[in-house]
Amino acid sequence: MNGSGWNYSDKVKEHFFHPQNILESDEKEYDADGVGYVGSPACGDMMKVFIKVKDDRIDEMKWQTFGCASAIGSTSMLSVMVSRDGGMRLDEAWKITPEMIIDELGGLPANKIHCSVLGDKALREAIKDYYRKTGQEDRIPDDDKSRTICNCLDISEEDIRMEVLEGVKDFSSLQERTKIGTVCGQCVDDAKTLVNFYAGKYYSEEIYTGNNKKDTDHA
Ligand code: FES
Repeated sequence: MNGSGWNYSDKVKEHFFHPQNILESDEKEYDADGVGYVGSPACGDMMKVFIKVKDDRIDEMKWQTFGCASAIGSTSMLSVMVSRDGGMRLDEAWKITPEMIIDELGGLPANKIHCSVLGDKALREAIKDYYRKTGQEDRIPDDDKSRTICNCLDISEEDIRMEVLEGVKDFSSLQERTKIGTVCGQCVDDAKTLVNFYAGKYYSEEIYTGNNKKDTDHA
């Protein structure tokens, strides 16, 4: 394959043939501060993004994909955009759009634009993962919390949160009640992270006081 005759810019070809920042080691050895996963191997596309964070900036972004040339080219470009000049601030990186990546790439064929959305989505998931792990969940915009976690069974993060509020405290009880993860299984890791996160949030102390830590006097 030499790329000649493709309707791709030189920049896309450069990033496709020499992708930057692919995670080549075992992800457990990489020890990322945040990990984001989107897509489904069942439909041929998947993207996993790993970030290291320093001083609220992206110190490094690594990624893995089973995507096409456009997904590879655009995610490689994205990894360069967020880590150059000392690293992009997390709140700026959150706002990166496919259009911004396509711009840097010098365009993409119109029928390939949809392939470029995986990288920035997975990056936002990785930033969210970092916010949760570091107790900064309040930085996640509210409208993002209703995203779908299990595409096979149409179960959202909000559904999982409600299950936890109704008493579910671990993944096996969640699965028993909702059947989440029993079709393709791709959502299992995300669902485990969320059920653990919300169970920790609501049940780690004897009395849950919401965000108002002082309001402890009505047991
Ligand atoms: S996404 Fe397939 S079982 Fe959840």
